[in-house]
Amino acid sequence: MGRSENMNTSISVLRLGHRRERDKRITSHLGLTARAFGADEIILSGDEDPSPLLTWNSVSNRFGGEFICRYESKPLRLLRKTAKDKNTLIVHLTMYGEKMEEILKKLPFDESILIVVGGTKVPGEVYGLADYNVSIGNQPHSEVAALAIFLNNYVDIDSLNNKFSGGEIKVVPTKRGKNILTLEEE
Ligand SMILES: C[S@@+](CC[C@H](N)C(=O)[O-])C[C@H]1O[C@@H](n2cnc3c(N)ncnc32)[C@H](O)[C@@H]1O
Repeated sequence: MGRSENMNTSISVLRLGHRRERDKRITSHLGLTARAFGADEIILSGDEDPSPLLTWNSVSNRFGGEFICRYESKPLRLLRKTAKDKNTLIVHLTMYGEKMEEILKKLPFDESILIVVGGTKVPGEVYGLADYNVSIGNQPHSEVAALAIFLNNYVDIDSLNNKFSGGEIKVVPTKRGKNILTLEEE
């Protein structure tokens, strides 16, 4: 059970408060995790930094699939608009939220969702704009861990098999070593 790939709805991730130097690696990993576990888009906010976007685009070119990445200078404005339009559910991942297991029982699979993750302190307004404030356990950990666990429980992993078409290389699961198909071999 879980959400399947659906042409009419999308899963977006909004990364709040990126700090160019301090968060270089974690923000890059956040986007790769979003892509690998079924999100369609990541929106970077905080410091304007081309580096993670270059990494995400490069990985998509090599490993396939459509993954949109963009920068948003006014994330609160985006969230206010999203909350007002009511076309997309806002799911804020925070250790202060309600238990993920409870939210997953009521979160629809057929609506677009915008998953919000923080880094530095998240503005209080975000908690009010979110349709769901979701905790993955109530201990502080990491935005990458929270996103991976949430997506892995929300998205039907088998439905991702065809998501990563059109890349230059494809990894074939193998017991030992590395088995990689290049585009020409497929
Ligand atoms: C360094 S943590 C900061 C922890 C923060 N005080 C909080 O509200 O969860 C950065 C981000 O990781 C995510 N996060 C950390 N722990 C989490 C948890 N237990 N459940 C859900 N999300 C979590 C949140 O999105 C948070 O903004």
